[in-house]
Amino acid sequence: MIDKARTLAVDQVFLDLEDAVAPIAKEAARATIVAGLREGDWGDRVRVVRVNDWTTRWTYADVVEVVGGAGDQLDAIMLPKVQTPEQVVALDLLLTQLEVAHGYPVGGIGIEAQIENALGLMNVQAIAGSSSRLETIVFGPADFMASIAMKSLVVGEQPTGYDVGDAYHYVLMQILMAARSHDLLAIDGPYLQIRDVEGFRRVAGRSAALGYDGKWVLHPGQVDAANEVYSPRQADYDHAENILDAYSHFTSAAGGARGAVMLGDEMIDEASRKMALVVSARGRAAGMARGEHWAPPPA
Ligand code: GLV
Ligand code: MG
Repeated sequence: MIDKARTLAVDQVFLDLEDAVAPIAKEAARATIVAGLREGDWGDRVRVVRVNDWTTRWTYADVVEVVGGAGDQLDAIMLPKVQTPEQVVALDLLLTQLEVAHGYPVGGIGIEAQIENALGLMNVQAIAGSSSRLETIVFGPADFMASIAMKSLVVGEQPTGYDVGDAYHYVLMQILMAARSHDLLAIDGPYLQIRDVEGFRRVAGRSAALGYDGKWVLHPGQVDAANEVYSPRQADYDHAENILDAYSHFTSAAGGARGAVMLGDEMIDEASRKMALVVSARGRAAGMARGEHWAPPPA
């Protein structure tokens, strides 16, 4: 699986020491992960290791062994089941000591915080502001459903009986607001029915629509759907690039130095430019090719 991960069209890979590893296999898994990080070519994929959470007996040694063995091949540590800002600070301090001890640049290893229970969600705003190492807030829907006793066993799907909207909307929005207010990425968690790609697409579509940056994939079969769902639609990408070109023209002296203009049937202004920048950045990051180009009206 580790070898295969180096070949997939994903932005990030995380190697797990937490819930995908049996308790009696935890210690041995650390060495497997160190070897996996050191071997092969990860290209420009972000390399992350998920350690065990601070309520277990493994967290400290997970971090010491992984950073000690492969800290120069590691972009971030994912901390699961974060409940308080202090838990992030504790990891930050430990990472600083390890970076100094091993001669790595201080602050080079980032942190991804997983929000997976009620207390973590109640504290997510403070958690998101707790360390300059934080890059990402990740929703952990499976643990979260267990934590709040949601009446369902199917992760991400609406619980039977809830017929008035999206049972996850509040949680997804809280995490997104906390992430955005601290300039962090917001990432949706796993969809466990790995053969149901349409189901993945449906659930991913909800967080993508709100603004989430991406979602975990558990299997190569989910990769294409994830890349598609979190990229702009082609028409939106083309429209965003056209707004940027048109607005740049009309605000210039040559275009009349105007701040609010019509683009087809739509008024565009500075806020339109900001929205277009987001869509354009995501489209460019996804390597999208631009379709029809806007051209300035003849002088
Ligand atoms: C992921 O860790 C989850 O609990 O959904
Ligand atoms: Mg979890």
